[in-house]
Amino acid sequence: MTLQGTALLHDKALNESTAFTSAERLQFGLTGLLPTAIETLDTQVTRCLMQLAKKPNLLEQYIYLNQLADENQTLFYKLLSTDPERFLPIVYDPVVGAACLEFGHIYRRPNGIYLSIEQRGKVKEVLSHWPVKDVRFICVSTGERILGLGDIGANGMGIPVGKMQLYTTCAAVPPGGLLPLLLDSGTENGSLLADPLYLGLRHKRASTKELDSFVAEFVDAVQEIYPQCCIHFEDWKGGDAVRLLAKYKDKVCCYNDDIQGTGSVILAALYNALKISKERFKDQRILMFGAGSAGVGISGMIVSALALEGVSAEAARGQISLFDVKGLIEPARTGLDAEQKQYAHKHAPTTSLLDAINSIKPTILIGTSTVGKTFTKEVLEAMSKLNPRPVIFALSNPTDHAECTAEQAYTWSEGKAIYAAGVQFPPVKLGGKTYLPTQANNVYIFPAVCLAVYVTASKRVPDELFIEAARALSDLVTSHQLDQGLLLPPQKDILQIEIKTAITVAEKVFELGLARIDKPADIAKLVNSSLYKPEYAHMKK
Ligand code: NAI
Repeated sequence: MTLQGTALLHDKALNESTAFTSAERLQFGLTGLLPTAIETLDTQVTRCLMQLAKKPNLLEQYIYLNQLADENQTLFYKLLSTDPERFLPIVYDPVVGAACLEFGHIYRRPNGIYLSIEQRGKVKEVLSHWPVKDVRFICVSTGERILGLGDIGANGMGIPVGKMQLYTTCAAVPPGGLLPLLLDSGTENGSLLADPLYLGLRHKRASTKELDSFVAEFVDAVQEIYPQCCIHFEDWKGGDAVRLLAKYKDKVCCYNDDIQGTGSVILAALYNALKISKERFKDQRILMFGAGSAGVGISGMIVSALALEGVSAEAARGQISLFDVKGLIEPARTGLDAEQKQYAHKHAPTTSLLDAINSIKPTILIGTSTVGKTFTKEVLEAMSKLNPRPVIFALSNPTDHAECTAEQAYTWSEGKAIYAAGVQFPPVKLGGKTYLPTQANNVYIFPAVCLAVYVTASKRVPDELFIEAARALSDLVTSHQLDQGLLLPPQKDILQIEIKTAITVAEKVFELGLARIDKPADIAKLVNSSLYKPEYAHMKK
């Protein structure tokens, strides 16, 4: 530790505030710069909890927590570790959505890099301004498709900032090597362009061609400046997300959480749903209601997972049908993109979900349509008539976009449905039994995969790693939890869950020959010795 006095107090990674010991206060010229009391980290946490309790709403709590993260990183992560179930929805979804909408108004500090398309030709120089030289992950968004909020331009920076906080909170990835980045290529959002406090480029979005060439410069610059860095694409517009992942996933270390992370967590929930229904994956018929980046991403991950069970890609795609705003995707449909076309199976045109269900006879119905109340009583009854245990995932969020609520799914199916949602619904009591609805949140997956990528310095992040994560995660649900309908483990144990998942994924990285380090005798030991612990320097001695 070489910083002294106020410079040390202003360094978020080194600041211990009132917990600096007497010896440290003497050594670092801090005497008089802090109140006399010398406190423990736990006492500091107590004060934070008290201050948080006085905040009038969750957005104010978000602002408070992010200021804390800027001032004292150790205390921030210690606080979050005391109750992840309570804090995850504040630092991330859903409160981060409100924070993004207000980003220009609640702005305090930059928290990452803002790479404007006007800096084309100078990306390397801009990246080199970041003070950390060993950046291991960059979470990059264009802010064009943030949660369910659409194009919010540079206001989307709240997402990379929040996602990187989840790496550390949920999987103990050391925060020093994490870089949130907003790739600012303008916005189509007229009200933001008219807002005097908007902080991004004040023009319409660049063309796809310009964006792709700028991304190419960015990806090249990252390879050169941070050779061990993994690029995490987050909340890009659907078409951009699919195109850029296809372009880069076999060339550089990168992944897209909206596509691969979503696919993986749904796969984990499906593995457990099939444990409950005692059925084989290769016998399922899946109807995807919604054929955007989530629907197509989940379908792609299912195809990859079935391939590992010996099912050909063509046969696997044959098990999946897509349905979108214009109806069932079948060969007569026009305007389909290349990904969607792969699932256009011979079928008469229909715009009725009920008709499609009665003719395709799906065992699994997955909603990613963004439209609430679309899984009606008739839909649930039809699925229940066709299947002893219909699998119903209503993944659209926020809550009022869910295709059906947990209560509706259990009630209308008379307790038969195996249910998951994109949001957390409360337990449902029906016929003397309590059902625990699952929240299929990507947060279970991407931090664990990234911990594995971090410890192994993996060269790539292929689908196989996400499938391995799904398998490992699904195995962590107990039979008692399965009996109650829970398909993923409870979030209160998130750190231990993700460390276990990461160990299995790290083994896969070595098996696939992707690691840039030698395989150690004990992979669990390697993972455990790399974990970030929210402790002050004197606590580690
Ligand atoms: P998107 O906008 O790319 O796709 C939406 C799709 O739904 C399109 O294919 C559209 O044609 C279709 N659609 C719209 N209205 C419809 C209707 N009335 N009937 C049938 N289909 C309709 O959106 P994206 O990114 O695919 O996300 C979809 C939803 O899934 C969002 O609400 C998102 O929050 C949720 N999601 C949940 C995740 C999770 O639970 N882990 C992860 C990712 C997304």
